[in-house]
Amino acid sequence: MGFLGFLNNRLGGVSVSFTRRGGLEDAVMMRDVLSGDADGREVLVRGWLQNKRSSGGIIFLLVRDGSGVLQCTVRKGQVQDSVFDAFLSAKTESTVELEGTVRPDARAPGGREILADSGKVEYPALEEFPIAKKFHGPEFLLDQRHLFVRADKMRAVLKVRAAILFGARSWFDGHGYMEVQVPILTSAAVEGGSTLFEVKYFDEKAYLTQSWQLYAEALIASVGRVYTVAPSFRAERSRTRRHLTEYWHVEAEAPWLELDGLMRVEEEMLSHILDYLVKTCGSELALFERKLEDLARVRPPFPRITYDEALDRIGGEKSGIKWGDDLGYEQEKVLTEHFDRPFFVTGYPKKAKAFYHKPDPSRPDVTLSVDMLAPEGYGEITGGGQRIEEYEALVGRMREEGLDPKSYGWYLDLRKFGSVPHSGFGMGLERLVSWVCKLDHIRDAIAFPRLINRVYP
Ligand code: 4AD
Ligand code: MG
Repeated sequence: MGFLGFLNNRLGGVSVSFTRRGGLEDAVMMRDVLSGDADGREVLVRGWLQNKRSSGGIIFLLVRDGSGVLQCTVRKGQVQDSVFDAFLSAKTESTVELEGTVRPDARAPGGREILADSGKVEYPALEEFPIAKKFHGPEFLLDQRHLFVRADKMRAVLKVRAAILFGARSWFDGHGYMEVQVPILTSAAVEGGSTLFEVKYFDEKAYLTQSWQLYAEALIASVGRVYTVAPSFRAERSRTRRHLTEYWHVEAEAPWLELDGLMRVEEEMLSHILDYLVKTCGSELALFERKLEDLARVRPPFPRITYDEALDRIGGEKSGIKWGDDLGYEQEKVLTEHFDRPFFVTGYPKKAKAFYHKPDPSRPDVTLSVDMLAPEGYGEITGGGQRIEEYEALVGRMREEGLDPKSYGWYLDLRKFGSVPHSGFGMGLERLVSWVCKLDHIRDAIAFPRLINRVYP
């Protein structure tokens, strides 16, 4: 068995033919070359030409295949002249194929390189790559997002996103939560009408969902603890650094769960995610100058403060809001600068929260609600709380908010047939990524951001 066979077997390989060299499926992943497992062996790699420099009879190529970036050295005289010339004139972001011997080299990025003995430029780039090393403005880079996703930092963000979702799913799966899916097209608001996207649904009106929550409350009576990973939509008029119009929402809901228990779920889940990031995303986090200690110190229990304390800390009414208003970006920015780890704010006033939040029996003008705020000026990353479980109380709150109970018919039914104290939360994936990766703007936490003025590319 040749090297390729060895490697594929070691990777729990699929049914790959080891005998045919040069088949499309035979390329070795750069990650596996960079790990050192292939030192001294002859391998075939394929990828995109990220960078190139040449001096005299030698060309250094940096080739990227998604799993890693590998230096490939092409020397005149060691490959056919036509091959050498093809690499010499290849533009960046051409696709290339190289075959050669892997050898450790301290000067190469990642500490290894391939010394090529053959290769070809498979799909030469037809034009100069529009994104150069020089400074480009943010709007230009957003227009070029389909190409900019190839940049190191974008790749790192994609990896961090995937790792967060893996961490979240593994925590939920290990704690009795089942992943479920609900519709994106809905007939009523969850979080209030002002941020609803309306769509024409044949002869009716429908809306893009703001949250899976109401459906989740139905599903807990079927399968118990549930979670989802799904897009949510907000027709946000505000142009801020933390609002997308389409974002990815990690949400959970559980029966027989009260506010305290909900906070324990959130802090344990987030700590588990951050642990996983520390273990698997060290080099990505380093690109953003995020220290691993900042994440490793996040351990339950998280600090807890009330809304009233929060308002005091930011100077009461001098903060720009008065008691009863929701904390906005400006207030959270000031508040979170006092913290070096995520923390909870509980007990938001009734008027700052959606109709389904349960009023605190000992103080009915505040709700059993909780937001988790990220430190360093980032602010809210989760929102949730305990729900109203009694039928009459829920109808009463809807009326107070000017909502028509008839448009929530099925939702009210849930209180008629086996109601239960229950709680849940939603975490904005891009909000978490922004804090973890210290991003200036949430648009860089997702590959193709949807913003008030952008649905392209
Ligand atoms: O606080 P929100 O509006 O709460 C809900 O939607 C609840 N129904 C969730 C639940 O209890 N199941 O949104 C939850 C989270 C926020 O904390 C924030 O992280 C994120 O969703 N979020 C946004 N992220 C990006 N862009 C926006 N426009 C966002 N709006 C909310
Ligand atoms: Mg909120």
